[in-house]
Amino acid sequence: MKVERLKILVVEDEPDQRSLISQMLEANNYQITSADSVEGAIVSLKQDVPDLVFSDWKLGQLSGMDLLTYVRREHPDMGFIIATAYGTITHAVDAMQAGADDYLAKPYQRQSLLLAIEKVAKSLVLKKQNRRLTSELSQQQELVGIVGKAPCMQKVYSRVQRVSATDATVLIGGESGTGKELAARALYQLSQRKHKPFIAINCGSIPESLAESELFGAEKGAYTGATSLKIGKLEAANGGTIFLDEIGELPLLQQTNLLRFLQEGLISRLGQNGEIKLDVRVIAATHRDLKFEVEEGRFREDLYYRLNVVPIHMPPLRERQEDIGRLVEHFLKLHSGQYKMEQAKLSANTLKQLLDHPWPGNVRELSNRIERFVLLGDEEEMLEELSSQPKPLNTSQFSLPEEGIEWEVFEKDCLEQAMNKHQGNRTKAAKFLGLSYKAFLYRLEKYQLV
Ligand SMILES: Nc1ncnc2c1ncn2[C@@H]1O[C@H](COP(=O)(O)OP(=O)(O)OP(=O)(O)O)[C@@H](O)[C@H]1O
Ligand SMILES: [Mg+2]
Repeated sequence: MKVERLKILVVEDEPDQRSLISQMLEANNYQITSADSVEGAIVSLKQDVPDLVFSDWKLGQLSGMDLLTYVRREHPDMGFIIATAYGTITHAVDAMQAGADDYLAKPYQRQSLLLAIEKVAKSLVLKKQNRRLTSELSQQQELVGIVGKAPCMQKVYSRVQRVSATDATVLIGGESGTGKELAARALYQLSQRKHKPFIAINCGSIPESLAESELFGAEKGAYTGATSLKIGKLEAANGGTIFLDEIGELPLLQQTNLLRFLQEGLISRLGQNGEIKLDVRVIAATHRDLKFEVEEGRFREDLYYRLNVVPIHMPPLRERQEDIGRLVEHFLKLHSGQYKMEQAKLSANTLKQLLDHPWPGNVRELSNRIERFVLLGDEEEMLEELSSQPKPLNTSQFSLPEEGIEWEVFEKDCLEQAMNKHQGNRTKAAKFLGLSYKAFLYRLEKYQLV
């Protein structure tokens, strides 16, 4: 879907280049304004706000990065694509980290520019929709115990609120410690079933041989040792909600039984001839990429689609840095209360370190650190071993060959290596490359590695 007459500001100091690019984009039905410097671009941005800026890196004394910084501050939703000079990988990396939506390494093909613009245009539409939704909710700071004000959390809140009143099956995804269980409980708390049972079961912690009887129950004598009738978790949740945690670990055979329940509402206890009809709302969670599990044959595709009616993604903490301060406050209060201790305070310097940390263990890791601080009152001990992000490339270890490289081949190879190294786990592979999950996925799609 191409946005009609997208407005683009082209910033390029070479007059020939500038008019060439402008004409080419105009011929492709884009509305173009242009500028020859960062200063000129800023003046233009004040007069007429474009949807997207396409800027050269080198612009006289200043650079496209200066313009990017300005745009990100003044127009967070504006698209930004930067053209970096041949052989300057670090520029591209810097620009992406500073919030560029994409970059093109010079010399680039006309087609690559058009493709990049189309991709960014698509994401702009989504950004706008998100913003509308979140502003409608007027920036909630908390939802039944879930703390967070970042736009990505607003999206979570709006989904939770919308679906909590229904019986729709919900699949909650997200890295470990991001609050999947908390979200499941929020869904339950806000639902009409809140006075009915909420049964949680961790599919990863039941031995395969017991999975069926745990979930679906077993008749007396159904297997050796079954000395009495055993009611399964689903039956125990009748009328209420079941939370299937770590659903990705459910053995294949039980996946089939669960699918039958989701489709027909029927279960049979192990060893039972008849069937029982149940009324249970299902909420499932997983830290795995279930789609990938499907591709690998470890998860039933039909079950995946049945579960994924309403997906809710719990964002990693590093993608909502603005919430860290709020969470620190929350946990200081929570843990001090829990241990009946006076609420301790953190120094500004410590707080800064907490804010800058990437939190691979997400909110759980933050909560544990603060709990330790509340108990021991020792800031240094709390900060111990805060693991660091991947190191920036040391260019003296890694120098480009004289004859140059094919950037796209190189980038694709890096992506493939990262995926292999982490057995196809995209979250880990993205982290390994120091990319946000979104930026990583975008590249996987770009090279058709998905
Ligand atoms: N947004 C939040 N606000 C307040 N507390 C949170 C938030 N997110 C998570 N927590 C707390 O962090 C801890 C971990 O959360 P939770 O158990 O829900 O994570 P999870 O995604 O289920 O993790 P895992 O995949 O490891 O099971 C819990 O103590 C939870 O209360
Ligand atoms: Mg959990």
